[in-house]
Amino acid sequence: EKITISVIKADVGGWPGHSRVHPALIEKAKEVLSEAQKEGTIIDFYVTYAGDDLQLIMTHKKGVDSPEVHGLAWEAFKKATEVAKELALYGAGQDLLKDAFSGNVRGLGPSVAEMEITLRKSEPIVTFHLDKTEPGAFNLPIFRMFADPFNTAGLVIDPKMHMGFRFEIWDILEHKKVIMNSPEEMYDILALIGAKGRYVIKRVYPKEGHPIPKDEPVAVVSTEKLYEVAGEYVGKDDPVAIVRAQSGLPALGEVLEPFAFPHLVSGWMRGSHNGPLMPVPLKYATPTRFDGPPRAVALGWQISPEGKLIGPVDLFDDPAFDWARQKALEITDYMRRHGPFEPHRLPLEEMEYTTLPGVLEKLKDRFEPIE
Ligand code: 13P
Ligand code: 13P
Ligand code: MG
Ligand code: MG
Ligand code: MG
Ligand code: MG
Ligand code: MG
Repeated sequence: EKITISVIKADVGGWPGHSRVHPALIEKAKEVLSEAQKEGTIIDFYVTYAGDDLQLIMTHKKGVDSPEVHGLAWEAFKKATEVAKELALYGAGQDLLKDAFSGNVRGLGPSVAEMEITLRKSEPIVTFHLDKTEPGAFNLPIFRMFADPFNTAGLVIDPKMHMGFRFEIWDILEHKKVIMNSPEEMYDILALIGAKGRYVIKRVYPKEGHPIPKDEPVAVVSTEKLYEVAGEYVGKDDPVAIVRAQSGLPALGEVLEPFAFPHLVSGWMRGSHNGPLMPVPLKYATPTRFDGPPRAVALGWQISPEGKLIGPVDLFDDPAFDWARQKALEITDYMRRHGPFEPHRLPLEEMEYTTLPGVLEKLKDRFEPIE
């Protein structure tokens, strides 16, 4: 029998500004989910935050895109929004872009990563929760976990991993997807996912012959684009992901290793800047400097045979990531000194909002041809 793991998140109000989630919102969401657990809608749950994003981690037997489970998440976000409004938190209800729930939270504002899996004898998973960045921020680390032998020793030395993995890549502008094989098509994969604002890794699958069935994902990333839903900038699509580990998959340490390099991602201040992704324990998932730098939280779990969430372990709460944090701070300083200049500020077409049309309008009579 299969178990579904659903990570659904939304920013329903920041405290203060866009820094973090107020504990009263977490309490409210817990109330809603524990009621649903008693009624049997979900098996288990955990509520937490990453920056100003309220994070619901749930297990159940209803499969992905379940109207009941998505409806439950929607209700939790709605109730938490009421609390955010009472406290006049910043941007109360920010990510709830539509008023009416119609069976699925996708396209309504929240971000979703879900996978339905046959539990292995032991099922270690990591949920990732990012703030002040976008889904493409996962391209580099997910690629490294499942395709880069310099990151994942298992690709070379574990017979179960040696054949590689399949990547499902979405073109989020054209709304198309493609499945590609690694290592055979590695350079083609990189040609796409290096353009992380457009091509994003949605899922990773094992290949034929792997102990995990070929149609079961081993990693999944949220790919919601708030901008497209709302038609205007309403905050970043701070993404989440679920990754399975061990026994023919990257070991836990191979799943975490890519985050030892604080790579540049877009987001940060006003969703319009490049900055380093800093791996942090939950207690530091509280972006402050220039509303950042962007943060990554990793929570470790074992799923029990009944579908209980055994955890979380706050995986970046480890001195092994101190150097990455230190490096991220150096990069933060270096990038910040560019002020309003690219490549700190994003190129025009990727900025979430811009005064440029207004400035150009004002100057239109003063522009003259160059001889
Ligand atoms: P498995 O024991 O899950 O195969 O992984 C090996 C390991 O522990 C890597 O450090
Ligand atoms: P959030 O998406 O985390 O709300 O960030 C919005 C923003 O503009 C921060 O400066
Ligand atoms: Mg916010
Ligand atoms: Mg956020
Ligand atoms: Mg956001
Ligand atoms: Mg081991
Ligand atoms: Mg072992």
